[in-house]
Amino acid sequence: MLLKKTVDKSRMWKKLVSHCKSMKKEEMRDMFEKDAARAEKYSINFENLHFDYSKNRINDKTLKYLLKLAEDAHLRDKIEDMFTGKRINITENRPVLHTALRNRANTPVYVDGKNVMIQINEVLAKMRRFSEDVRLGRHKGATGKKLTNIVNIGIGGSDLGPVMATAALRKYWAKGINCYFISNIDGTACAEVLNQVDPETTLFIVASKTFTTIETLTNARTCRKWLVDALGEPAVAKHFVALSTNAKEVEKFGIDVNNMFEFWDFVGGRYSMWSAIGLSIALAVGMDNFERMLEGAFAMDEHFRHTPFDKNIPVIMALLGIWYNDFMGFKTQAVIPYDQYLRYVPAYLQQLDMESNGKFVSNNQEFIKYSTSPVLFGGAGTDVQHSFFQMIHQGTSIVPCDFIIPAISHNEIGDHHAILAANVLAQGEALMRGKTVKEAYEELRKAGKTKEEANFLKKFKSFPGNRPSNTFLFKKIDPYALGMLIAAYEHKIFVQGVIWNIDSFDQMGVELGKQMALSILPELLGNAHGLQHDSSTASLIKLIKKLRK
Ligand code: F6P
Repeated sequence: MLLKKTVDKSRMWKKLVSHCKSMKKEEMRDMFEKDAARAEKYSINFENLHFDYSKNRINDKTLKYLLKLAEDAHLRDKIEDMFTGKRINITENRPVLHTALRNRANTPVYVDGKNVMIQINEVLAKMRRFSEDVRLGRHKGATGKKLTNIVNIGIGGSDLGPVMATAALRKYWAKGINCYFISNIDGTACAEVLNQVDPETTLFIVASKTFTTIETLTNARTCRKWLVDALGEPAVAKHFVALSTNAKEVEKFGIDVNNMFEFWDFVGGRYSMWSAIGLSIALAVGMDNFERMLEGAFAMDEHFRHTPFDKNIPVIMALLGIWYNDFMGFKTQAVIPYDQYLRYVPAYLQQLDMESNGKFVSNNQEFIKYSTSPVLFGGAGTDVQHSFFQMIHQGTSIVPCDFIIPAISHNEIGDHHAILAANVLAQGEALMRGKTVKEAYEELRKAGKTKEEANFLKKFKSFPGNRPSNTFLFKKIDPYALGMLIAAYEHKIFVQGVIWNIDSFDQMGVELGKQMALSILPELLGNAHGLQHDSSTASLIKLIKKLRK
């Protein structure tokens, strides 16, 4: 179902533009003062997650218009299209079924008349068998030793999910197991991992949807050679497995297809950690915990699919993002988990959001005039309070923040968690309330400054406030909660893609750079000349060659 008019020409968009003008004058401080029930009104409780979106520059009218914008985009139908396997990735003519990977109800999902749940369950069972065999020492290395070092070789979606989730679930790792990740083509990435592991106890997982990605294949070849040099060619069968959709290339690389864990074209790279790509997660935390993560994601899927939009966490997240990005003009988004184990969540979401929605052509093949993906960044609190929070509080750009905090830490030591929680709450409140120049002046006077000193400092010490944030409060970050959290962001991105009328599931924007790198490579290696470059690139090529001589 293609929309005839671009969304920015729609009646609701125009209404939002004019509504935004009046909302820009509203202060959240006043809204909280006038309405004692604001927090309750703009919060959603779902299982162990409390989602508080009351510290946003919105009122009932804003939400009404935004919800109507979603309805006008036929969001309800589009959600069903995704879950039921319609080919919503229109540029690649593929269904988008990461939700089927965690469909714990096991209801049939059909692609071309075939129930994909059968193959999904088979791979899950194979993952269970293999991960248990490795963890219990039944699958041994070539010299009979237990495999305790897991090295995942992959990049982008074949790396970031496992990196993020294994770190998030560190407390659930089996004793004695170690996880390493090689993604970057920079030889340092390989060298640093290989320096730490012993070939006799190392399992390499080559994770690549296409099995053609130059970084992953180059890294995998280097690791394969390292292993063969140490233990001989037959060791590969015991020490290498592949996760891929491309059996032919896996075989060509020299991994037996019996040692391959399959997934399919209907799983996007950045949506793949729920598939065989999650094998390193399963090896680290065990298949039961991996499946708990799937269950959490499934719970969020059900919530997203069946809850009215005004009580629907991913829908509200998405609408707030659109409100800021397209109307208020706040084009960045920070994600700040106050949980050390979640420190890679922002990097994970960077790919998820920006590779999905960083698009400038609509599904109607028109160049888009409105703003799509935000610039997403972040890091773990409280660390980031001591780096970029100066700008978040007093900078001239406004950055809506998502704060994520568990009520209970995995490491309850003294007052650590209370201090952590006090900080996240303080940030949200400070961003919302700010501090007026008058308040700053009075505070300075109270602190003993002279009138002159207070007058000089009062503006520097003031905070504009009225800066938005969401708070995601979980009871504890366990595998289930992690699944819920990540699925919520996936669906947020989906909803935004629907409203912006873009294909959130291709990534054509990464192609040009890859193409050009392939043409520059032979020049750097010294066996090609004369390709046409701009003068800057040409002289940089020359200089690198000279410096490397
Ligand atoms: O950067 C482009 C991309 O295709 C990502 O979408 C993907 O996650 C990554 O490369 C890795 O691809 P593959 O899993 O096929 O090696």
